[in-house]
Amino acid sequence: MSFIDSSSAEQTRRIGQRLGAGLRGGDVIGLGGELGAGKTCLVQGIARGLGVDPGLAVTSPTFTLVGEYPGRVCLRHADFYRVESYARLEDAGFDDLLDSDAVLVVEWPERFPQALPAERLDIRIALVSESERRLHVAGRGARATELARRFLEPCP
Ligand SMILES: Nc1ncnc2c1ncn2[C@@H]1O[C@H](COP(=O)(O)OP(=O)(O)OP(=O)(O)O)[C@@H](O)[C@H]1O
Ligand SMILES: [Mg+2]
Repeated sequence: MSFIDSSSAEQTRRIGQRLGAGLRGGDVIGLGGELGAGKTCLVQGIARGLGVDPGLAVTSPTFTLVGEYPGRVCLRHADFYRVESYARLEDAGFDDLLDSDAVLVVEWPERFPQALPAERLDIRIALVSESERRLHVAGRGARATELARRFLEPCP
């Protein structure tokens, strides 16, 4: 795994925005890291990069499985933290979200790794200090490998 460092929430959003700007429909991102690591912060940047209306607040969905945000490409944001079981995901039709023309970002993917396609971009955010984070990235498959390569380029 390779990584990029962030020293503020704002920088994490910028990193997300640059990633989002290069995404296209069908891209899947698994976003790991402990509570408060900055996963949702990164998703907020991704939304911006995808051209989602900045007036739309991006927060983790609590009562629905996925949050949907229209943009240049639609963003779908799921959080497995409160999903009780894999059966719940199946019942909710999670599979149908995979073959769509939206970008799918999943927080806490490690809870149900079997729900995600083999080809995806994995990002794991590690806490370094109160304001510093290390974003580890791994691309699985040719497309995600290219996304990972771009992700690792230094962000101003
Ligand atoms: N470098 C940084 N990158 C991202 N967030 C940071 C950074 N430094 C401080 N923070 C703060 O850490 C918190 C991250 O919260 P966020 O909701 O994004 O975490 P999360 O990983 O989604 O947590 P959860 O597992 O609860 O969903 C925010 O309060 C943010 O301001
Ligand atoms: Mg979150």
